[in-house]
Amino acid sequence: MKMTNEQKYRLLEQVEPQELEQLRELVSQCHWRERYHIQPSIGLLNDPNGFAYYNGQYHLFYQWFPLGTDHGMKYWYHLKSNDLVNWEDCGIGLKPGDWFDSHGAYSGSGLEHDGKLYLMYTGNTRDEQWQRHPYQCLAVMNAADEVSKLEQPVIGGVPEGYTDHYRDPKMWKDGDTFYCVIGAQRQELTGTAVIYSSPDLRNWNWVGELQTELPSFGYMWECPDYFEQNGQAVLLFCPQGIEPDGERYRNIYQSGYMVGKPLALPDLHFEHGAFHELDHGFDFYAPQTAEGRNGRRVLVGWMGLPDIDYPTDNQGWAHALTLPRELELRSDGILLQRPVPELALRRGQHHDLRDVLTADAGSRQYGGFAGTAYELLCTFGYLDAVGQQAVFRLELRASEHERTVLLYNAASRMLTLDRTESGQPLAEAYGTTRSVLLEQQLHQLHIFVDVSSIEVFVNDGEAVLTSRIFPQPDSEDIVFSVQAGQVELYAEKWEYPAE
Ligand code: FRU
Repeated sequence: MKMTNEQKYRLLEQVEPQELEQLRELVSQCHWRERYHIQPSIGLLNDPNGFAYYNGQYHLFYQWFPLGTDHGMKYWYHLKSNDLVNWEDCGIGLKPGDWFDSHGAYSGSGLEHDGKLYLMYTGNTRDEQWQRHPYQCLAVMNAADEVSKLEQPVIGGVPEGYTDHYRDPKMWKDGDTFYCVIGAQRQELTGTAVIYSSPDLRNWNWVGELQTELPSFGYMWECPDYFEQNGQAVLLFCPQGIEPDGERYRNIYQSGYMVGKPLALPDLHFEHGAFHELDHGFDFYAPQTAEGRNGRRVLVGWMGLPDIDYPTDNQGWAHALTLPRELELRSDGILLQRPVPELALRRGQHHDLRDVLTADAGSRQYGGFAGTAYELLCTFGYLDAVGQQAVFRLELRASEHERTVLLYNAASRMLTLDRTESGQPLAEAYGTTRSVLLEQQLHQLHIFVDVSSIEVFVNDGEAVLTSRIFPQPDSEDIVFSVQAGQVELYAEKWEYPAE
């Protein structure tokens, strides 16, 4: 049942305990709860926020609407970790409800300064006519994880030339100056990003609109992020309103990056290359990066999309965050994304296998290779010219009636993720397959399966496909086959035990 706006914009203290109890009860009956991904206890999770390495730990927040699976009053929910694997639940980080965030503490970022973690976010407000009025706000967290909001926004209102879609500040520091990039919509309804500077994170000055080579690329850019690595710069953003183009841009909204020359602000010109999608799966949006220990760059995304119905919507909760990925910017401007090595801390029982798969041999299953929550690392070799024509197929979460399929065609170098038969369907209007053309022959699939998700890392960082899937609990099989040619396979699997 859809909630009214009045119901959606209540604060937690305005809610009867029974209502939350009912949600908890619903959630407890759901068999699609993830085993090792960050997910909300009840309600809806969306963007990762405030991701930062502070005071010797990784801090991560997410957008949280506790009262249902619509988008309503958003809080920031806080977690922290020593290793990006085991997360401590720190409860609510930012609470909305002041005049400048009366309708939600929307997305934003975290940056360490003077021994504190500064959190800059968008205060969402609506007036009586339900017109949106965004403010950019600041909160400061101390080493005891106590957060206090400033009593006034640090950027009030929206400058001339932009609409009220003006949000998601992401901060960084260059020399002695702080900067933030904000996602915006121009008055003529095209998406862009704008930049402010600050000497102290409290006083912000308008620098201007980023000058890119994409003057008309979608109607809104959400969740921009900017960082530099090895003398190159990366701008991440989520353009909305991009039409599908073959296998590209097939989700409702996109999420990608452009690599270029480091900005020389206040010069706003950004000299950059093409826009690349960050992920080729069905469910990935609003990623955010943080600089970790030793200057490493780690990315976490939302394993979901706005404006799509999900099968758990009537079960009291929705969505999860992706696993953290470490980014490496290749000199030719391609971002490699690898699961952070710390994930190995989760590994439980190990199985491995070595085999040569041929079309004649039919499909194969192996002892220990089954389950609903595990890591699977497959390494491929192609023996001869026959291998170059191989068609390799891997079924996961499979049973008689369900399967999530990865299909690789060596002749075309096309890798396809097919969720047509994954289980309960979702977002079918956007298609049930996603494909990516690989630069080089498939040699590695590094797969993380959880109860209702799959993340597929390809060729040591070349591509990632992230998707939710909603199979029955007993769809556990892993089935290997080759439909043409022959493939040499080495596979390792680690069980991911429940905490
Ligand atoms: C992206 C987004 C952001 C906004 C937040 C609100 O998913 O729409 O632009 O700040 O979600 O929850």
